[in-house]
This record gives sequence, structure tokens and C-alpha cells, in this order.
Amino acid sequence: MKSWQPLLPALVLSFIVLVITFLYLYDFNETVLLLPYHKNNSLAIRKLRTRATSDSQPTPTVITALASNHYSESLDMIGTVHYYLPNSDLLIYDLGLKYHQVKVLQKLRNTYVIPYNYSRYQQYSQARRYYRCYSWKIHVINEVLSFSSHSQQLFLWLDASIRIVKPVDPCIKKLKSFPLVAGEKHIPGHNMIAFAKDSTVKYLDIKRESMRGMVGFCSGILFFNRSSPIIQLLLRKWVDCAMHQQCICGDGPSPVGCVWEDKGGWIAYNGCHRFDQVTLNILVAKYFDQYKYSITSWDCSESFHIQRRPTMNWRRYIALKNDYR
Ligand SMILES: *[C@@H]1O[C@H](CO)[C@@H](O)[C@H](O)[C@H]1NC(C)=O
Ligand SMILES: *[C@@H]1O[C@H](CO)[C@@H](O)[C@H](O)[C@H]1NC(C)=O
Ligand SMILES: *[C@@H]1O[C@H](CO)[C@@H](O)[C@H](O)[C@H]1NC(C)=O
Repeated sequence: MKSWQPLLPALVLSFIVLVITFLYLYDFNETVLLLPYHKNNSLAIRKLRTRATSDSQPTPTVITALASNHYSESLDMIGTVHYYLPNSDLLIYDLGLKYHQVKVLQKLRNTYVIPYNYSRYQQYSQARRYYRCYSWKIHVINEVLSFSSHSQQLFLWLDASIRIVKPVDPCIKKLKSFPLVAGEKHIPGHNMIAFAKDSTVKYLDIKRESMRGMVGFCSGILFFNRSSPIIQLLLRKWVDCAMHQQCICGDGPSPVGCVWEDKGGWIAYNGCHRFDQVTLNILVAKYFDQYKYSITSWDCSESFHIQRRPTMNWRRYIALKNDYR
């Protein structure tokens, strides 16, 4: 027996531990905030400030936010944006992308990568689980509106999992009469309020009973006209909610990836809190209850699909900036 053989298991084990440690550190390193590309923010912001669009041919600005684990999925989404909205600006907030991912995204047509500045929002320093409450989505939409030109009215938030599969002209037409067009109904037969923790219901000061029968809409696709006073009110209240942990996160542990008991028609909390989605739905119900069908519309759901995994179907439509052709 060779003298090193008894050491073999220990060597193999330490090798495995080293590999796992490396992968762990590599995948969870989310600090790309200080890379030099933040200088290019000013470019995007300057362009958006001065952007003029004609009312006859409104071009929506597309907004999304990504961490590195959704990068691959987002390339398909970007392909569909380039195909169906070739003239739209695409703003990608960087929640923790890797350096090489940012480098690729910056080369894409009409695309701007903007670092999400966590230190601007106090709550992230208190608890990392704020990140999982999707409050960044609300802050990102609010930030974009704060620096873009007022002549730019239409904005389209897309989660990385969304694919545009048909022209969005019907949605743009809808926006003439509805200030908010959301993707689709949430699970039919289920009251939206069952997806809200008690502390959220309390913070937003609404009675569960008053939301009985409201199916609600999903928040992965939000198409809105920022000039509408209704949107301005909703956004103000939504941002306030995002600033308060008991509202956006709800009390108790964060139920990410939860499964709920499938009891349609329930209004009591079903164990599956829906952060940004349920809070926006409550605000719509609270302020525009009897008009709820006149301020949101899911009539253009056909233009979108949800696909929570990367596919290669749409990447061939991704276009580069002119200087890179
Ligand atoms: C900003 O973007 C331009 C291309 O649009 C690029 O040439 C330049 O290197 C970028 N600047 C930084 C600091 O990354
Ligand atoms: C991020 O926000 C903090 C607090 O508002 C500010 O002090 C800092 O300069 C910002 N960082 C960048 C890179 O803009
Ligand atoms: C957005 O809303 C404003 C004010 O309500 C309205 O004048 C404008 O026509 C709307 N824009 C579009 C593109 O629907």
C-alpha cells in the first residue's frame, strides 16, 4: 500500500469542500455596485429627461430589474422587446449582476444598465430579507419616473420571465381609457386578499371583507400612463408601503416559495404572502373600489406569456447598438 493512500479520502473531501466554497462565494457575490459603469447612468438619465414622444405614436419605456440568477431568462425577454418594441428604451436595474453580464447588456440596442443603489433605501441595512419582499421593484419604478421626461407617458414594467408574443398596440389603445393595464387575472376563484398577511391589511387600513370577490391582477406586467393622477396616487401609496416592513413584507418569516392551501373563496390569510402584487391590488381596491374595472384591464393578456426558464426561442431577435454592429 502506498503511503499517501490513507490520505486519499481526506484529500478528496477537502477538494469538494473547496469547490463548494468557491461556487458559493462566486454565486452569491452581489456587489457589482461600484463598477465604473455607473458613470453611464448619466447618459441614460440625460436621454430620458429630454426624450420627446409624439402622442400619435407613443413609445413605451420598458423597465425591469435583474440579479445574476435571472440574467439568462431575461435575454429571451429582451429579444421579445427588441422584436415588438424596436424603438423603446429598455432600462435594466442591476440588483446584483455579474461584471460580464453588465458588459453584454450595455452593448444591446436602446438598453441602459443602471445600478440599484441599496444604500439609498435604509431598510436594506436592517434586514436582508427586505430584498426578498420585492420592495426594489416599487423603488425602481418610482426612480425611473422621477428622472424621465414628462412628455414620456407610457411605461411598461416586465419581470424577467415575461415574453411579449404579440404586438402591444391593443394595450396602448386600452391605456387611452384605463390608466393601468396589468397582465392577467390572478388565480380565478381565489380572493386576492387571502394572499395578504394581517399586518399588511392593517397597515393599508382595509377590511378583508370589503375585498371579497376580488380576484385581482398579476404584477409581472404593469403597463401604465404616468400622467394619470390615479397612477400618481397609487404609486405614492405603493412607495410608502415599500418603505415599511410590516406593509410590504408582512410580519413573521418571509414565505418565499410557499405553497398555499387551495381553498378558493377564502379571505383569511392563506399562508402565502404576495408582496408587491397584493399591496398594489389592495391599493386599487381601496381607492377605486367601485371603479375597479374602470382603472385596470387585463384585456391585452394575449400579448404576453410567462416563462420562468431560459429558452433560445427569442434570443435571435436581440439587436446590438449601432456602434457595435
Ligand atoms: C459608456 O458607454 C459607452 C458606449 O455607449 C462606452 O463606450 C463607454 O466606455 C462607457 N463608459 C463606461 C465608463 O463604462
Ligand atoms: C447611493 O446612495 C447613497 C445614499 O443616498 C449615496 O450617499 C451614494 O453616493 C449613492 N451611491 C452612488 C454610487 O450613487
Ligand atoms: C396619458 O394620460 C394623459 C392624461 O390623462 C392623456 O392626456 C394622454 O393622452 C395619455 N396618453 C396616452 C398615450 O394614452
